[in-house]
Amino acid sequence: MEITKICCIGAGYVGGPTMAVIAQKCPHIQVTVVDLNEQRIKDWNDPNTDNIPIYEPGLSEIVAEARGRNLFFSTEVEKAIDEAQVIFISVNTPTKTYGKGKGMAADLKYIELCARQIAKVAKQNKIVVEKSTLPVRTAEAIKSILDNTGNGVQFQILSNPEFLAEGTAITDLLNPDRILIGGDTTPDGEEAINALVNVYANWVSKDKILTTNVWSSELSKLTANAFLAQRISSINAMSELCEKTGADVNEVAKAIGMDSRIGPKFLKASVGFGGSCFQKDILNLVYIAKTYGLNEVADYWEQVIIMNDHQKRRFSSKIVQTLYNTVADKKITFLGWAFKKDTNDTRESAAIYVADDLINEQAKISVYDPKVSKNKMLSDLDYLETRSAEKNLEALTILNDPYEACKNAHAIAVLTEWDEFTTYDWKRIYDSMHKPAFVFDGRNILDAKKLESIGFVYNGIGS
Ligand code: NAD
Ligand code: UDX
Repeated sequence: MEITKICCIGAGYVGGPTMAVIAQKCPHIQVTVVDLNEQRIKDWNDPNTDNIPIYEPGLSEIVAEARGRNLFFSTEVEKAIDEAQVIFISVNTPTKTYGKGKGMAADLKYIELCARQIAKVAKQNKIVVEKSTLPVRTAEAIKSILDNTGNGVQFQILSNPEFLAEGTAITDLLNPDRILIGGDTTPDGEEAINALVNVYANWVSKDKILTTNVWSSELSKLTANAFLAQRISSINAMSELCEKTGADVNEVAKAIGMDSRIGPKFLKASVGFGGSCFQKDILNLVYIAKTYGLNEVADYWEQVIIMNDHQKRRFSSKIVQTLYNTVADKKITFLGWAFKKDTNDTRESAAIYVADDLINEQAKISVYDPKVSKNKMLSDLDYLETRSAEKNLEALTILNDPYEACKNAHAIAVLTEWDEFTTYDWKRIYDSMHKPAFVFDGRNILDAKKLESIGFVYNGIGS
């Protein structure tokens, strides 16, 4: 089967960049990305591609090249489903906030809505691809909904999880470590798998395209995220021990990372991991293990989250303790609000929780982030429902100039590892602050020795 028309439901951090790259690399395929969110689609269609809703290095150039040629963004969900041979489902699968599994299970209501809409609209056979991260065996539920439409249309369900990381999405998509495609081991299943393999083979070498059964593919995605997050919690656990013993976590990470069995990646101690995936997917894994009665498995993975929460709280407590046990009415400047550099995404960012703790201690927080909007920061805090929106507005000041943000501060806390923070005129910042001038480097990116020679009291993670 030769694929010429693809539709992707969900124009978010995964759907947008993934489809932009498919369209760029496969000019013979028409790719339509649809979303219910009209504003989001309007932003994707903004004539100036610098204004597209997602900031990712290299993305706006690809959108500029392919949009209007074979890449389209639309709110006409049914039309796009009807026309496509392959439909990617790339909608959000957040942690449930209600009912059974609240706070743990993945909320699959958006997935089910997509399946029902596809079932309603489809008049010809279709390949439906799970791009969203889903609990193992979700394909079964999707298949059941699709197969019970009674209109004779045949559906093949494939699992094709996305492994891109935000901030490096375009390079990850252009040069993936692997593409994973899970499908049925029937002749029709294999035909569908091959059709999707051939799409990726336009730019990914076939030895990197791995095919498995559906359940292995679904579970591999949760497993990959759990392993990556586990490494961060492991090094963060060591960072606390380093602080007590005089060891330096950067040196420990380097020493263990040179062991080829361990490897150097994902060993950067930090204020705690954020992002829309790690916490959600591990909680989901814990929930799945519990539903099968595997309590030891569940407890084992839950500890990764417990450690991460501890690391975020430990960072805010350290600020309070170091500032003579009170931050009331003191100005604390945050450099960074995004959950990592090179993205405007703030979901589950450690900055939100650290700010919330410090505002509880009556600190005044001033923030500078190169890509995150003021409204986003305020809505992140409001979402926690710790206090009223008016009180959050009083406690949080957002500035467009880092030097202004740091002026008259008692302390600076680095929450995101944006490269530009390392290039600032730190003497100028020091001169404008209250003394002693404290720096809490939640990302270990600043030059501690240089800052101390200027006069700062420097606190990193794990040293
Ligand atoms: P997102 O919230 O940025 O985007 C999801 C989009 O889907 C939203 O714009 C929403 O309006 C739209 N949507 C929801 N229901 C819809 C419906 N019925 N019809 C049309 N549009 C609908 O989410 P995301 O970050 O792109 O994540 C999507 C999925 O990919 C999740 O399952 C996530 O776990 C997974 N994932 C995310 C990343 C990442 O880095 N963000 C990486 C790998 C996998
Ligand atoms: C993650 C996975 O890496 C990706 O494969 C998956 O598809 C989606 O989830 P993402 O959350 O976008 O990607 O970014 P990632 O680079 O994994 O960082 C997640 C968080 O961990 C960030 O807050 C980051 O700052 C933090 N982190 C990462 C560390 O604290 N230390 C590290 O060594 C690496």
